[in-house]
Amino acid sequence: MNREEAVELLKEHVKTDRVYRHSLAVEAAMIAYAKKFGEDTDRWGLLGLLHDLDFEKFPEVHPAKAPELLADTGFDQTFVDSILSHGIDPDVPRDLMERKALHAVDEMASFIIAVALMRPTKFEGLKAKSVKKKMKDKAFARAVNREELVSSMEDMGVEFADHIDTIVSGLKEHESMLNEQGYSLLG
Ligand SMILES: [Fe+2]
Ligand SMILES: [Fe+2]
Repeated sequence: MNREEAVELLKEHVKTDRVYRHSLAVEAAMIAYAKKFGEDTDRWGLLGLLHDLDFEKFPEVHPAKAPELLADTGFDQTFVDSILSHGIDPDVPRDLMERKALHAVDEMASFIIAVALMRPTKFEGLKAKSVKKKMKDKAFARAVNREELVSSMEDMGVEFADHIDTIVSGLKEHESMLNEQGYSLLG
């Protein structure tokens, strides 16, 4: 399945802009990490793009229904398992780098977008320092579990500033690609 087909599949199951935008943000961050680690950018991008495929239709059991929605797509079992691994208390261990990365960028990519939206220059010049400040601000994006943001990053073995820089650069790059298609991660 190529990106275009994956976007189509995603749009079939995800109707709200919130989840759609989040999927693109996680895609962007996964591509950035695949580049950084010399991994398969297409695969990691698709993992990000499709990780919340079943979230809207099956919020109670998400991501357990993802395999069903991915049936007949040709993705290998490891790919499907990697999507399963990002859930809370997953049955699949986060033992592969693509799983650790997916878990670490999932909430952080959207948190960074929330921070960017508060800044006049958006992603431009957005540093780890600003993200850290907002993480300490309990009233800001209060639904986001700060401990999870940190522990998932630590599990991946990356430093905070490096983590933020990688995700921001991915988001920036994706934003210009999406802008050309008339879409924006910034709403
Ligand atoms: Fe999810
Ligand atoms: Fe997600």
